[in-house]
Amino acid sequence: MVAELSSKLTIAFYLQLHYPDVMPSSQPYDVLIIGSGGAGLSLSIKLADQALRIAVLSKFALTAGSTYYAQGGISAVFDADDSIESHIEDTLDAGAGLCDSEIVRLTVTQGKKSIDWLQQQGVVFTEELSPSGETKLHLNREGGHSHRRVVHNADATGKAVSLSLIQRAQEHPNIDLLEHHNVVELITRANADNSNKQVVGAYVLDSKKQKVKTMAAKVVVLATGGASKVYLYSTNPQSSTGDGIALAWRAGCRIGNMEFMQFHPTCLYHPSAQSFLISEAVRGEGGKLILPDGWPFMQHFDPRGELAPRDIVARAIDHEIKKRGIDCVYLDISHKPAEFIREHFPTIYSQCLDIGIDITKQPIPVVPAAHYTCGGVITDDLARTDITYLYAIGEVACTGLHGANRMASNSLLECLVFAERASEDILRKLPFIANSPTLPDWDESQVSDSDEEVVVSHNWHELRQFMWDYVGIVRTDKRLDRALSRVTLLKKEINEYYRHFRVTSDLLELRNLLIVAELIIRSAQQRKESRGLHYTLDYPELDNSKPPQNTILSPDNFRQ
Ligand code: FAD
Ligand code: SIN
Repeated sequence: MVAELSSKLTIAFYLQLHYPDVMPSSQPYDVLIIGSGGAGLSLSIKLADQALRIAVLSKFALTAGSTYYAQGGISAVFDADDSIESHIEDTLDAGAGLCDSEIVRLTVTQGKKSIDWLQQQGVVFTEELSPSGETKLHLNREGGHSHRRVVHNADATGKAVSLSLIQRAQEHPNIDLLEHHNVVELITRANADNSNKQVVGAYVLDSKKQKVKTMAAKVVVLATGGASKVYLYSTNPQSSTGDGIALAWRAGCRIGNMEFMQFHPTCLYHPSAQSFLISEAVRGEGGKLILPDGWPFMQHFDPRGELAPRDIVARAIDHEIKKRGIDCVYLDISHKPAEFIREHFPTIYSQCLDIGIDITKQPIPVVPAAHYTCGGVITDDLARTDITYLYAIGEVACTGLHGANRMASNSLLECLVFAERASEDILRKLPFIANSPTLPDWDESQVSDSDEEVVVSHNWHELRQFMWDYVGIVRTDKRLDRALSRVTLLKKEINEYYRHFRVTSDLLELRNLLIVAELIIRSAQQRKESRGLHYTLDYPELDNSKPPQNTILSPDNFRQ
């Protein structure tokens, strides 16, 4: 620790002494990465040997994002019977006509290289012995995949990835890891030839000190994860409040495909278990979805049964729950040997046992819950957004990989591949980007401490409740209209509150979630068909009369 600190200080001191223009005393960062999940940490490590000063921010602890909780694994072609073409075909099929086929190919072809890179960072994956006695990676099977293709660490892949990447980043002298730093707003200005906006830094709430800092940077990267917390029930951790999408929108970026919010079919249903996922890999190993009377119902909805893509399985469960007035359905793996279950699913086994369910003997009560944001900040194949030097990687981005429905385990792969793409572009450009200008401090002269924080907590709950009821798995025009009029009201109230009171983390998240909710509703209203994850009773079929269209919303067309 002492050695690490002193090497950082020595480099900074040397640079200031010899290159004062390159390293001004205010010490702006070369690259400010907002988010310490799989995407943000991978990028920081890939940049660190060549970029001098990198900051990685997390609004809570470093492990706060979805990455830490990922279970099933990372899709990549390893099996001798599998092929890149098959992985591409399955991804395009799940994406229901809206994937960008070039981006799919670019991503899928990097699968093996991405796993190799993670292993070099110290990530350990579950192995097995082949019939010929060689050790090879064990591959999970998940919905939509026509082969076993998911590299994993038992049922806690995200934890293995997260902890190794954090350790690597902590060891590197060029990376500053800043916890409890919550980005309030991006700072932009016109670029040199006035042709576009350019990002130059961000205002950041240090929530331990309750102070807003100004952080200047040559390049800013959004790696803030998804927005599933806009719904009452979600598999996601607290951090998934769509901040990056809202920050980019307010700064002027286009946002795409927000109607495609993915609901995971199997979230544990129990009064004392909050947001615990039961991995799709359980169905991959033969888990059956059954009704309370034991009837397996999935074959009735899709010939692929339990391994149909997620949108189909989640809708089938929702249908059965609503039709029969039951609280949940059940996922039963108890026909498999107890030893097999404990070995493959140790986390799920012990989490369920803690609440009195022995999954080697009993079925697991499950319901669908909001899980993944397929839409997001529109980027190109190098992770560049509409604003110069602003990049977006990971779940916050809309790259074209997922289309109308993400296939299981393609998300962590996307984090890794686009971290690599962004790093290549950033390293090419960094030497030519001028130092950030002196930026104005955050102005708190017009605000005071809040007198009624209940406004924030009440509106949080109201928002998530009506998003669940009106903008969930099954939508109608009427439900969307109702939701929009409520969002409009809450936005007015919260914007007013924001103008008068000092910012807190809860207020920032709610303000961002309201923007995300509006983007989801408006995107859903524009889609007059059912496709992938967007299902509406008013237009229950695919519209095949014209080529499939992405939904693109631009801030230029809305009054902010
Ligand atoms: P995250 O890992 O969510 O990290 C976001 C980071 O941004 C956090 O550090 C957060 O603190 C920070 N942040 C957010 N807002 C701000 C702000 N305003 N200021 C500062 N910091 C901010 N995908 C797979 O491919 N395979 C799986 O097996 C799998 N299993 C999953 C299981 C669960 C329970 C969940 C919830 C998701 C799963 N997913 C899986 C999806 C996948 O985990 C995520 O899509 C992926 O990890 C997202 O990584 P990320 O780096 O983009 O964001
Ligand atoms: C799971 O393990 O079911 C989650 C996989 C994913 O979301 O990709």
